[in-house]
Amino acid sequence: MSHVLDAILRRRAIKVFDPVEISAETREQILHAARVAPSSFNIQPYRFYWVESPEMKNEAARLCFGQSPAATASALIVAVADIGSWKSTTASELAWMRTAGFNEKAIAEHERRAKFGKWFFIQGWFGVFGLLKWTILRVVHFWKTMGTLPVARQGMFKWATKSASLACQNLMIAAEALGLNTCPMEGFDGRRLGKLLGLSGKDHEIVMVIAIGKKSARHVDQPQWRRPLEATVRIV
Ligand SMILES: Cc1cc2nc3c(=O)[nH]c(=O)nc-3n(C[C@H](O)[C@H](O)[C@H](O)COP(=O)(O)O)c2cc1C
Repeated sequence: MSHVLDAILRRRAIKVFDPVEISAETREQILHAARVAPSSFNIQPYRFYWVESPEMKNEAARLCFGQSPAATASALIVAVADIGSWKSTTASELAWMRTAGFNEKAIAEHERRAKFGKWFFIQGWFGVFGLLKWTILRVVHFWKTMGTLPVARQGMFKWATKSASLACQNLMIAAEALGLNTCPMEGFDGRRLGKLLGLSGKDHEIVMVIAIGKKSARHVDQPQWRRPLEATVRIV
């Protein structure tokens, strides 16, 4: 079996970790694997907080309700959907294109798309513009094939969470491939954890916290159950 498939199939949500130190090199490999995940418009609308200092980790674990994976992990990775990063990401991608040898035509086209794309993100005061966009598009949709745009902040967070979740899965598989183990968690106090990390109430929403470390002998793997394939998949 390929190494990738092997890591995917081996991954389990680990409840107890042994205290091991994760080297800076391994940490970087894992985070790099996370950020090469695909993302909508390549905007990468998320950020990761790798919490490893004992004080911060203990406090973050407490805000994960002291769950055993959080309390025993070597580090806690907080994945945050970031709906405010699109402007700087677009600008930095354009700056990269200018130094990476893209021709003027490709840069101009990217610039044009970025200018047009900003209408996708802008929601306006209390989401009024988002709602207006949605209404207009619903009407146009009657005779034209098209996708729908996110409306207001919750729609934007839903949009950003999709890309963030793919990065989280990449991260967990990479950890597994590098001999570490993980547990994704949504059991946390998002408001307090956000405050601890200095997140913006306007642009940031925690998607999940991933406990990472080395599986302890004290962890007992439960049998892994999944719905039958035909309950999950329909071939049409
Ligand atoms: C979004 C999400 C949130 C989860 N939250 C928690 C959690 O708060 N605590 C926990 O112990 N496990 C949590 N899990 C782990 C699941 O319980 C676990 O993945 C599931 O039972 C299947 O087990 P497996 O991953 O070992 O196959 C979460 C998983 C996901 C994907």
